[in-house]
Amino acid sequence: MWDIIINSLFLVIPAYSANFFPVLLKGEKPIDFGKKFIDKEYILGKGKTFEGTIGGTLFGMFIGTILIYVYPILNPYYLVTFGTNMYHHNFVTIFLISFGAILGDIIGSFIKRRFGIKRGESAPLLDQLDFLVVSLMLVSLVSEIKLSWVVFLIIITPIFHLTSNLVAFILKLKNRPW
Ligand code: CTP
Ligand code: MG
Repeated sequence: MWDIIINSLFLVIPAYSANFFPVLLKGEKPIDFGKKFIDKEYILGKGKTFEGTIGGTLFGMFIGTILIYVYPILNPYYLVTFGTNMYHHNFVTIFLISFGAILGDIIGSFIKRRFGIKRGESAPLLDQLDFLVVSLMLVSLVSEIKLSWVVFLIIITPIFHLTSNLVAFILKLKNRPW
């Protein structure tokens, strides 16, 4: 069980980082250029900006780079405990997982707008899992991801996500606690 927890968290930290960072940037240039879709609703809405998209991807990669450098320090302990190597990131996986997180969140917003759910209104499960699913899909193209990690992450991510949004709300970074 501990191997599942350690590997899946090590894998997903850049995605969480990429997903959380945009809220701090308070970006102003929407990537849909404020345009509406055929349903006369915003394509994505003002919550998906260039600043957040680029900044989030870069921040996820920055945290991922730290993970690449701490790996040689952590892995020997993992190896003696579990008898195998820990999951290791490289520059391709940290890009795919960070960009995937941002892309998944954008796809989530697109879906919300099509259902008439306004920016910032909640869409339970979609809000918490959109970034994770796309991020894991992209990284699984280039590295081996275990099903048990995916299951674990799908269970814990909504809990993490709701807690971090609550903290952002208390710090007045978000208008709503979700
Ligand atoms: N953000 C951004 N660019 C992104 C993603 C997020 O600038 N690509 C910023 C926006 O300021 C956004 C905040 O991070 O309001 C929180 O993101 P999120 O909860 O995903 O957006 P919502 O405002 O809830 O919008 P939506 O309903 O479309 O999810
Ligand atoms: Mg949201």
